Amino acid sequence: MKVGLIGYGSMGKMILEKIAEAKFVKCKDLYVANRTYEKIEHLTTVFNVCKTNAELAAAADIIFICVRPIDIKSILNEIKPVISKNTLIVSLNGSITFEMMSKIINHKIAKAIPSVTAEINKSQTLVCYNSLVSDDDKITLENLLKCMGDIIELPEEEIGMGSELVSCMPGFISAIFDVISNSAKKHTDIPEQQIIQMLLRTMVGTGNLMLEKCLSFNDVVTRVATKGGITEEGTKVIYEMLPKVTDEMFDKTLEKRVQTAKNARDNFEQKFSK
Ligand SMILES: NC(=O)c1ccc[n+]([C@@H]2O[C@H](COP(=O)([O-])OP(=O)(O)OC[C@H]3O[C@@H](n4cnc5c(N)ncnc54)[C@H](OP(=O)(O)O)[C@@H]3O)[C@@H](O)[C@H]2O)c1
Repeated sequence: MKVGLIGYGSMGKMILEKIAEAKFVKCKDLYVANRTYEKIEHLTTVFNVCKTNAELAAAADIIFICVRPIDIKSILNEIKPVISKNTLIVSLNGSITFEMMSKIINHKIAKAIPSVTAEINKSQTLVCYNSLVSDDDKITLENLLKCMGDIIELPEEEIGMGSELVSCMPGFISAIFDVISNSAKKHTDIPEQQIIQMLLRTMVGTGNLMLEKCLSFNDVVTRVATKGGITEEGTKVIYEMLPKVTDEMFDKTLEKRVQTAKNARDNFEQKFSK
C-alpha cells in the first residue's frame, strides 16, 4: 500500500513519522508533498518526496490532506485529473464537509481528526466516511491510524462535539487542573512543582482505575466522598458551582465551531464560484 501526505506541517509531519515508526508501510511507499518544497527536501533519502500534489496523487492508494481549510479546494482540483477511483482521500479538517468537497470531486472521502495525545500513541482519532467509502477502505484506514492510538467512528454531524470531547479536552482538562493547582497553592507551602506532579499522577491514576475497574465518575465520587466526610464538602461545591462553567464552556466552543464552519463554507464557495 502506498500512502501519501499532502502538507508537511504540524499534522502531516506527525502522521508521516507515526506511520513510518509503526513500520505498517515501508518508507519507500510513503509519499510526501508540501507547498514549500524546501521544507521536505531533506526527506528525500528516506521517503518519496514529490514535487507536485498531482505526482503524489497519481501514486498513492490513500492520500491524507493535511492542510488548512483555505487550501483544501485547490488541492482537490489539482489531484482530481490524476487520482484513481480506488484511492481513498482522507481530510484532516473538521469544517469542510463531504458535501462541499463533493462539489469539486465526487470521490470516496474520509475525515480523520487525531488528538494531541497521538504523540504518545494515545490518540482517540475521530473518523467519518462519505457514502462511497467501502468497508474494506475503512478497515485499511483504521489499521493505519491505529499506530497513533484508538479510533472512534462518528457520523459527520457529531464530529464537532466529538472534537470537543477528545481534541479540545486535553486543553480543557489542563485549564481546569491549572485552576485547581493555583487554588491549592494559596492553601499550602508544598512547592508548585510538587503540587503539579501530585495532581497529574492522581489524575492519571484515577483515569486508569476507572478504566481498569469499569467505574463510573459517580462510583469514584461515592467511594471517596463518604457521607459527612471532608471530600464530600469539596464535591458538594463542585456539583453546585461547576455546571454553570461547563455549560457555558460548551455553549461558547460549539458556537465558535458553527462560526468557523460558516467561514470555511463561505470561503470555499466563494473560491468555488471563481
Ligand atoms: N494541529 C492540530 O492539532 C490539528 C488536529 C486535528 C486536525 N487538524 C487539521 O489538520 C489540518 C492541518 O493542520 P496543521 O496544524 O498541520 O497545519 P499547518 O501546520 O499550518 O500545516 C499546513 C501545511 O500545509 C502545507 N500546504 C498548504 N497549502 C498546500 C498546498 N497547496 N499543497 C501542499 N501543501 C500545502 C503548508 O505548506 P507551507 O510549508 O508552504 O506553509 C504547511 O506545511 C487542518 O485542516 C487542521 O484543521 C489539526
